[in-house]
Amino acid sequence: MKIILVCGARPNFVKIAPLLRAIEMHNAQKPGAINPILVHTGQHYDYQMSQVFFQDLELPEPDIYLGIGGGTHAEQTGKILIELEKVLLKEQPSLVIVVGDVNSTLAAALAAAKLNILVAHVEAGLRSFDCSMPEEINRMLTDAISAYLFTPSRDGDHNLLNEGIPKEKIFFVGNVMVDSLLYCKPKAEKSDILQTLDLKEKEYVLLTLHRPANVDGKQELTGILKALKDVSEQIPIVFPAHPRTRINIEKYGLSKLIKESRITIVEPVGYIDFLALQMHAKFVLTDSGGIQEETTVLGVPCLTLRDSTERPVTITQGTNTLINSTAGIKPAALEILNGAVRTGSIPEFWDGKAAERIIEVIRSNAR
Ligand code: UD1
Ligand code: UDP
Repeated sequence: MKIILVCGARPNFVKIAPLLRAIEMHNAQKPGAINPILVHTGQHYDYQMSQVFFQDLELPEPDIYLGIGGGTHAEQTGKILIELEKVLLKEQPSLVIVVGDVNSTLAAALAAAKLNILVAHVEAGLRSFDCSMPEEINRMLTDAISAYLFTPSRDGDHNLLNEGIPKEKIFFVGNVMVDSLLYCKPKAEKSDILQTLDLKEKEYVLLTLHRPANVDGKQELTGILKALKDVSEQIPIVFPAHPRTRINIEKYGLSKLIKESRITIVEPVGYIDFLALQMHAKFVLTDSGGIQEETTVLGVPCLTLRDSTERPVTITQGTNTLINSTAGIKPAALEILNGAVRTGSIPEFWDGKAAERIIEVIRSNAR
């Protein structure tokens, strides 16, 4: 069985790694049963946004690199469609696996579905119900054309059933992000990133920001950074800045504001070091999707700077709290600094075995 696995952006690498490992395990029992081909679209291309994840997650080099790079939504999606179609026509796989909700996910699913190649979507069914997020459009459209919908949490199943997707296509398997986290945690425990950045355990806040709604507008980004400057008077903040955000900080002349605060900007860090930074943070402030899940599993409080989340279990069961206005940032931070702790529990099937379940479903359906 020839399977093409497509990745392109930072969170994709974290989701693809356990799938490749599960295929390897399957092949160890049934030699040659699955022939995986790894395609990297090149949506993310900086060393710290791409290659470092291949090392940290022990991923093999991609078999095929499309090199599409940055661009508008239409440019990125269009280039992937054109380039991936050529690969699919040549390789004729039985299945294409796509993960997450980035432009590479939708473009790859569309290229395959139009050639009548089955698509499996890993992390299906998540919904923020906010169509101004590009990811929400990617999620809905990818799910609509996929044959296998692998959900990370029960809410995903409900969302898909509500959209009229037949239940035979839906498989609740758990969260592949957690597979990677549990696999890499022992290495993260040995990371020396805290010493490198001169940080002390539980005496700093970890910050990431990259959602267009937060970082693309001058007013929004300035408001958030001013609120964070206030928070940094109580506790230092370390900020591995996404390239989108770093470009906008410079464009809007906000470097000075940061220099005058106790916010330290660093390059995006590799996966192992970033896990270590999360584990030892007093709390995490973010607008990331995956980090809401990782902090829940690590039991670290997470303040998410967004109006909505497609990952509601991180709130109902985990350690996540939504902050839907800039004015809410400082009070929420002070609450944690004053000792309010949300412990939370680990959601069902976030146990390190999601990828194995996925490969099992694919193999048993292929027979
Ligand atoms: C993308 C995803 C988003 C995901 C995020 C993970 C879409 C629509 N968005 O957002 O869902 O949460 O990745 O990080 O797919 N850039 C670099 N170097 C890189 C990568 C990007 O300089 O290696 C810069 C470029 O200027 C690029 C910009 O960042 O144009 C935005 O990159 P892009 O992949 O379009 O969107 P992200 O904001 O990364
Ligand atoms: N991450 C990382 N280094 C960083 C920031 C994030 O390794 O500097 C990891 C993080 O642990 C998680 C993934 O990247 O596994 C999340 O990616 P991102 O926040 O870019 O995307 P999203 O999940 O929002 O789509």
